[in-house]
Amino acid sequence: MTDQLTEKDAKAAETGANATRYFQEKSKSGAQVDPERVSTVAGAALKALHDVIREHDVTYDEYDALKSWLIRVGEDGEWPLFLDVFVEHVVEETVNKERDGSKGSIEGPFYVPNAPQLGAEGTLPMRDEEPGTPLDFGGTITDCDGKALPGAVIELWHADDVGFYSQFAPGLPEWNLRGTFTAGDDGRFMAHTMQPAPYQIPHDGATGQLIAAAGWHAWRPAHLHLKVAAPGYQTITTQLYFEGGEYLDSDIASATKPELILAPTPKADGSGVEVTYDFALAQA
Ligand code: DHB
Ligand code: FE
Repeated sequence: MTDQLTEKDAKAAETGANATRYFQEKSKSGAQVDPERVSTVAGAALKALHDVIREHDVTYDEYDALKSWLIRVGEDGEWPLFLDVFVEHVVEETVNKERDGSKGSIEGPFYVPNAPQLGAEGTLPMRDEEPGTPLDFGGTITDCDGKALPGAVIELWHADDVGFYSQFAPGLPEWNLRGTFTAGDDGRFMAHTMQPAPYQIPHDGATGQLIAAAGWHAWRPAHLHLKVAAPGYQTITTQLYFEGGEYLDSDIASATKPELILAPTPKADGSGVEVTYDFALAQA
């Protein structure tokens, strides 16, 4: 661990703990899982772990290191962070394996519902001097036969140019770079925002300790997060990435897919870049 926390590290640490608080808040209902499923799935998970221990001749020192580390993940408030980075992508793949329509990806720990409503076209809330390259990002929402879905709801959220999410990292205005769009009569929406930069998951806590100990890196490629929903259709939770961007092939969260890569082009007036992406929703 670093002895001297930079201002950026301190912000990252707070981000992890806030993700835990937020998750606990939103999951107050407490999902109930059928005891038979608990027995089946927890039993299989433990067996997989037992097999790893046997296969790799795990020692008592290593077992104790695991215990210390698991304790620290909780103390640092990093369970949502850790699970969303290293586990959620397989849940997403499994849950959506038979869904038609546009590809999904992980939600991650930083979604907040009810971001400001911006109509069919609008600018995400941002600071006066929001850093980065202006990005016009639009598209059409259709069903799987190409019929436009007016009134579809598009929620868009992303990190700022240095990789921080509003509502989680301190010091950012509420709702910064978060908004809700409603597709117009033609099924279209248009978002004006800033192109995000590659994002380093908070790496000054337990998750970072694992990443450093294993010699991995903590980066995710630059990405936009989206949820697209319409009544009678299955909601898509996804992420979009940028062609040629760093870490597309080595995302720490394993959440990229070839279908999710945007290729923005410079705008004619030189004021930034633009790109479109169309979403097809499958019936519920
Ligand atoms: C995490 C952060 C993200 O922005 C994301 O898209 C996925 C995971 C994380 O820190 O866990
Ligand atoms: Fe993200």
